[in-house]
Amino acid sequence: MLGNFVYSNPTKLYFGKDSLDDLSSALNGYTKIMLVYGGGSIKKNGLYDKIVKILHDSGKEIIEDGGVMPNPTVEKLYEGSKIARDNNVDFILAVGGGSVCDYSKAVSISAYCEGDPWDKYFIKFEEPDCKIIPVGCVLTMVGTGSEMNGGSVITNHAQKLKIGHVFGENVFPKFAILNPEVTFSLPEYQMKAGFFDIMSHILEQYFSGNDDNTSDYIMEGLLRSLIHSTKIAVKNPTDYEARSNIMWTATWALNTLVAMGKSTDWEVHMLGQAVGAHTDATHGMTLSAVSLPYYRYIMPYGLDKFVRYAENVWDVDPTGKTKEQIASEGLAEMEKYMGEIGLVMNISDLGVTEDMIEGIADSTLIMKGGYKVLDRDEVIKILRESM
Ligand code: NZQ
Ligand code: ZN
Repeated sequence: MLGNFVYSNPTKLYFGKDSLDDLSSALNGYTKIMLVYGGGSIKKNGLYDKIVKILHDSGKEIIEDGGVMPNPTVEKLYEGSKIARDNNVDFILAVGGGSVCDYSKAVSISAYCEGDPWDKYFIKFEEPDCKIIPVGCVLTMVGTGSEMNGGSVITNHAQKLKIGHVFGENVFPKFAILNPEVTFSLPEYQMKAGFFDIMSHILEQYFSGNDDNTSDYIMEGLLRSLIHSTKIAVKNPTDYEARSNIMWTATWALNTLVAMGKSTDWEVHMLGQAVGAHTDATHGMTLSAVSLPYYRYIMPYGLDKFVRYAENVWDVDPTGKTKEQIASEGLAEMEKYMGEIGLVMNISDLGVTEDMIEGIADSTLIMKGGYKVLDRDEVIKILRESM
């Protein structure tokens, strides 16, 4: 049964090869634009020049804030917040992947925050009560869904914590521009990591609850489309049809729609983020490395859903098999697919060594919405299985 909910998503999307043409009108009314980007990929692929030209042609003043690193840090957040405040910018334009979008949202609510934004938003999970600078995104990497949600993930290396806060509608980007062709220049490793991030977002919301709800059917459809298109894209990364379908699936996977009225898990992300806090590894690969040990561990507690997953997503034939056999076959199919895509399958490949396991367990937040609420020993067991 669906629970009560209010659904609204304020982000306006512009999708397709010509979507950048709408940037100028999307910025109507704003004059001082903080242009945020990462380590330089947009300079190499020409996007930077195109955007600067559009901004100049529409008479905008540009304040640049480049160098946002993958897994943006709290130090960078403090720096960017000062730039935004000192320059009195009236809009933040994020041009990049999830890291640049997440960072821009964090700056938008931190520039005028009284007190320490890390403590307020990422430790105490408070909502912003200060002036918020509006944000827009030109997305260059597919995976996080950050372009159409209120999520922002910030890493604090000193505290060995990587924490995400899903903020409300006032923090969602005002608009997002999605051109699949822009993602063609992504390195293969990042492209693949993004593919699994999408899959993980769907699974985090799918593997929770046993009620009959529309969202689970939508998610099975999203998963089938994702599996189909990613198999094509790894063979031919410039296949527009596949890459555009993947880009759209990524947005739907985490723009709040499929979570409406149902419970969700997110423990794989907590494990992955803890690994990320200790290794600074690529987000999607931290998820692929821990997913199968986690799902195999919780499978008995949510058996019926794992059977449904096997049949409806992986086309496992149930004839003459026990529920355990069907569910296990589904996970075996998933493992085969992950190998075919070329994902990282264990955390030792991300730099985790045995002596780091306890510390990673300490950094792992425990969620309550999945089929099994883990205790610390179970976290350690899953991390060991992931080595
Ligand atoms: O920094 P540049 O030079 O731009 O290079 C980036 C970066 O090195 C590169 N890249 C991006 N677009 C490119 C490109 N290179 C060539 N051509 C392009 N078109 O890719 C690298 C990774 O980029 P990044 O933004 O870090 O990747 P992603 O989009 O996966 O974002 C990861 C961050 O998002 C958080 C993660 O935890 C991580 O910090 N997440 C945010 C979520 C949300 N807001 O809802 C949910 C997710 O679960 C996730 O936790
Ligand atoms: Zn993710």
